[in-house]
Amino acid sequence: MPEITIIDEIVENYNDVKTPLIYILKDVQKEFGYLSDNVLTRVAKKTKIPLSDIYGVATFYSLFTTKEKGKYIIRCCNNAPCHVNGSKEVLDKTKEYLGIDFGETTKDKIFTLEFTSCLGICAVAPVMMVNDDVYGNLTPEKAVAILKDYKLKGTSNV
Ligand code: FES
Repeated sequence: MPEITIIDEIVENYNDVKTPLIYILKDVQKEFGYLSDNVLTRVAKKTKIPLSDIYGVATFYSLFTTKEKGKYIIRCCNNAPCHVNGSKEVLDKTKEYLGIDFGETTKDKIFTLEFTSCLGICAVAPVMMVNDDVYGNLTPEKAVAILKDYKLKGTSNV
């Protein structure tokens, strides 16, 4: 189905909702992975909400992203308990293995690397998440082994 049709259908799903923008953006992002300029422009046209307002919402809330991200989003915690337990070494090794810095996506679009604040499981620090999966008691070697598994999964069905 063409991109425009999908967006229009999503917008129409919320015709009866008084303030539908968040719901629309959430569904559109779920569909396309991120909120590109083209997508936001179409949402603006279809909803008749000014594009600047839509950008305001899309860039304000952390659940939205206007940049294309990898298939797997790695979120590394570096708050104090994780830091004390060696997260810096884990982070450095992770960056070295991926060849990217925080906020970046690998060229093959498999991984995006981000920070997260405390995940509330400091007892098993240092900690990272890959999409919805949580990993604790990390060492640099363990982190790389986990990411190698994801890379295998990610390239086997791309
Ligand atoms: S500080 Fe990292 S999980 Fe709490």
